[in-house]
Amino acid sequence: MNVPLYEKIWMWAAAAIIVVFALSVTVGYGISALQPPSHVETIDPGKVFNDPRFAQRGVTTTANGATVVMAAMMFAFNPAEVHVPAGKPVTFRLTSVDVTHGFMIVGTNGNTMVVPGYVSQFTTRFAPGTYLIVCNEYCGTGHHLMSAKLVAEVAP
Ligand code: CUA
Repeated sequence: MNVPLYEKIWMWAAAAIIVVFALSVTVGYGISALQPPSHVETIDPGKVFNDPRFAQRGVTTTANGATVVMAAMMFAFNPAEVHVPAGKPVTFRLTSVDVTHGFMIVGTNGNTMVVPGYVSQFTTRFAPGTYLIVCNEYCGTGHHLMSAKLVAEVAP
């Protein structure tokens, strides 16, 4: 088959773009530890506060790290401030009681969508310090007011 040079150039360019896309996903997952939301654990958004998984919100600390359970709603995170151990794995479990929100821990790789009906979960570590958590999905007129605070503390 005789393929003109001009067409060959475009075929190779298209193939190169696909390789770049595949590499960017691989690098994001493997090196930067970015993960897509799992979206496998479901929850009734109207009964979040009665659900045993979210009835008690806040931080549970163990010797190996911590778990943060948090609910997102228009226009706040509950609880609005959490203290976690620095340097240890911290697992976040999040859900929304109303609309889709975002959960971004500014300056870290902690960033996920919080979708009603689903539990979003991810694990990351923090250097000691105070971090701002913002909602980065437009969720209504008070979207810009929706924030929380995370303090990563060195164990005494
Ligand atoms: Cu919640 Cu924007």
